Amino acid sequence: MNVSDSELILGRLAAEGYRQVTSPADADVILLNTCAIRDHAEQRVLGRLGELKGIMKSGAVVGVTGCMAQRLGPTLLEQARHVSLVIGPDGYRALPALLERARNGERAVETTFDLEEHYEDVVPRRSDSVKAWIPVQRGCDYKCTYCIVPMTRGPERSRRLPDVVREVENVVADGISEVVLLGQTVNSYHDGASDFATLLRAVGAVPGIRRVRFTSPHPNDFTDAVIAAMADVAAVCEHVHLPMQSGSTRVLRRMLRRYSREGYLDCVRRLRDAIPGLCLTTDIIVAFPGETEADFAETLSAVEAIGFDDAFTFRFSPRDGTPATRLPESDTVPDEVAVDRLDRLIAAVRGQARRRNLSLLGQRREVLVERTARRGQLLQSRTRDFKTVLVPGDESLIGRYLTVELTGTTGSTFTGTLVTGRTPLPVAG
Ligand code: 5AD
Ligand code: SF4
Repeated sequence: MNVSDSELILGRLAAEGYRQVTSPADADVILLNTCAIRDHAEQRVLGRLGELKGIMKSGAVVGVTGCMAQRLGPTLLEQARHVSLVIGPDGYRALPALLERARNGERAVETTFDLEEHYEDVVPRRSDSVKAWIPVQRGCDYKCTYCIVPMTRGPERSRRLPDVVREVENVVADGISEVVLLGQTVNSYHDGASDFATLLRAVGAVPGIRRVRFTSPHPNDFTDAVIAAMADVAAVCEHVHLPMQSGSTRVLRRMLRRYSREGYLDCVRRLRDAIPGLCLTTDIIVAFPGETEADFAETLSAVEAIGFDDAFTFRFSPRDGTPATRLPESDTVPDEVAVDRLDRLIAAVRGQARRRNLSLLGQRREVLVERTARRGQLLQSRTRDFKTVLVPGDESLIGRYLTVELTGTTGSTFTGTLVTGRTPLPVAG
């Protein structure tokens, strides 16, 4: 979502004649687009702001945008004297005017929510020529007790379906055939007339679209209609990133996730029944206040029972103003216990991913080439089921679909060889 917001910010400024430079030392305007989800993310922003002091041109305008800006508002101006603009996720339309004021020495904060703001008239400057991020929903109406997002991005609102479809048609015209629909709980999408199932069908029907992904869904919003649309629409990829957060019903209740362990398992079963070969990834938090060893064991057993292809694992990070910070002090999980649980969880996830990936060796897959890989003369490509495959080739193949055989795996990523000739496309899975 932040990458997508950055693309909108760049688009807004490009329309006013600003152009991008490659080094902050050359910039007249430096904007840091920020995340507030965990303290670690904010610490990195503060570190970067400190570094910029030594690099920036004198007189350059420094602004902080995004969730950390929204969360801290004016206190950010007090904390960092060289910052002159603080702009939340709904304030980018005002950027050119605010920059003008900042260049005249003013300092300003813009953190009002605008429930109508979808930046419909802003043409994003996309950072990726192969896949396009398409925001379809802003904000979040869930109130998970650990989460800052409802406070930094405000209430949920959906873009109108015709506006989303028009943007998808525009990216196809630019030669892009993969889109990622974005929303905080993307499958709760509803524009007043159409739900997420209808949206998937409409986006999948745009001529030239070959791959549709979406992130992140909430288990409770996987209606039968949404799952049927995923199964029916050929372009919808066989991958779901489905945040679980915990495998313990007791912890899930305290997190206000609004589903139980069984509810999550049931959602996984419905998805797998409908979509053969589905790849499943997740987010898990350890050491939520009050999490006992028995609760954590439930998370580990859920991980084992489900068999995720990958997981983002986090240690609970208390966020000011969220309900979880009001739980009794005695519920805090000690640091060493939290670190140990995170280590054990990572080991479980890795072991499982490795076993699953080893079992795929020898299979053929259609990949889309995304970019050159960091090492050697290799390209980084992606299967429909979200596996990364390194294949030999040069830059001219970026954006092309190829058939590869999976020949090796590190346990997480694959190497592959091109399958030449008229090989029939394999069925995924
Ligand atoms: N502490 C740790 N992890 C968090 N997440 C959200 N809020 C917190 C927090 N306070 C994680 C969740 C979410 C992902 C984007 O970040 O797992 O799904
Ligand atoms: Fe945060 Fe929960 Fe909303 Fe996700 S669903 S953004 S975790 S409040």
